[in-house]
Amino acid sequence: MSDLLILQNKSAGILTITIQRPQALNALNASVIGQLSVAIDTAQTDAEVQTIVLTGSGEKAFVAGADIKEFSDYNGREGKALAQEGQDLLFNRIERSSKPVIAAINGFALGGGLELALACHIRIASNNARMGLPEVSLGVIPGYGGTQRLPQIVGKGKAMEMILSARMIGADDAAACGLVNAVVSQEELLETAHKMAHSIMKNSPVAVATAIQAVLAGYEDGVNGFQAEINCFGASFETDDFKEGTQAFIEKRKPQFPGK
Ligand code: CAA
Repeated sequence: MSDLLILQNKSAGILTITIQRPQALNALNASVIGQLSVAIDTAQTDAEVQTIVLTGSGEKAFVAGADIKEFSDYNGREGKALAQEGQDLLFNRIERSSKPVIAAINGFALGGGLELALACHIRIASNNARMGLPEVSLGVIPGYGGTQRLPQIVGKGKAMEMILSARMIGADDAAACGLVNAVVSQEELLETAHKMAHSIMKNSPVAVATAIQAVLAGYEDGVNGFQAEINCFGASFETDDFKEGTQAFIEKRKPQFPGK
């Protein structure tokens, strides 16, 4: 059996997952990817989990990328499989998680590490965080969705600059271009991520999951996002959460969503 490379802590509806490979700056090897994939999958049906916070161990790195030592002798076929399996097993699953995933970026988020954060729904960074896609400096390109998700989040021009220059940016620059939603001190990072989780958890979990689905629809090939929104909107009216949310408003009380 492989070593445990992630820590999981469940408290008050929040699953906090910490990647535990500090000696390699939490780089993503096959075991970390496999363990994260199982954790995200399991959380989908765990009634005790409503939101997920993803972070790295130590004070230096969130994740410093895919494990360069693991893939340095790969050929083209193996490289393609690395990207395909990583995207299928983990990055796409995080993005499609019906429970919001918040990245708490506590240091370097480089290459596959930034791509991991990009797959999350919300990103909060500590002020020492450094982010970038340095793959072209290694003779490869981002392979865990970075060429697609970075332009979606910061726009094509800024993404081109970051990908082609391979340069890192600091937390304030990342906030200025919309790459992260907030910047706080390292001491406040997890608390801020948990506060964000709590503000989401006040809402209907069914509507939150449906909203994620509708937002993602606009980025799917061949899908009309506006039509997907209309369909999702209509489906919301059939849920018990909708009945409770609207009734609570009319009765001037806080809703108790049955979807929880
Ligand atoms: N893979 C494997 N090991 C890594 C790693 C990575 N991505 N990043 C850091 N490490 C290891 C280092 O090799 C080192 O191990 P040893 O002590 O055994 O030598 C240890 O972590 C500490 O790292 P450094 O000594 O390099 O620490 P530093 O403070 O001098 O530098 C850093 C920090 C700038 C983040 C530097 O480690 C670095 O540049 N890391 C690589 C970043 C990178 O290029 N990431 C992209 C990977 S490719 C990718 O992700 C492809 C993809 O899209 C799928």
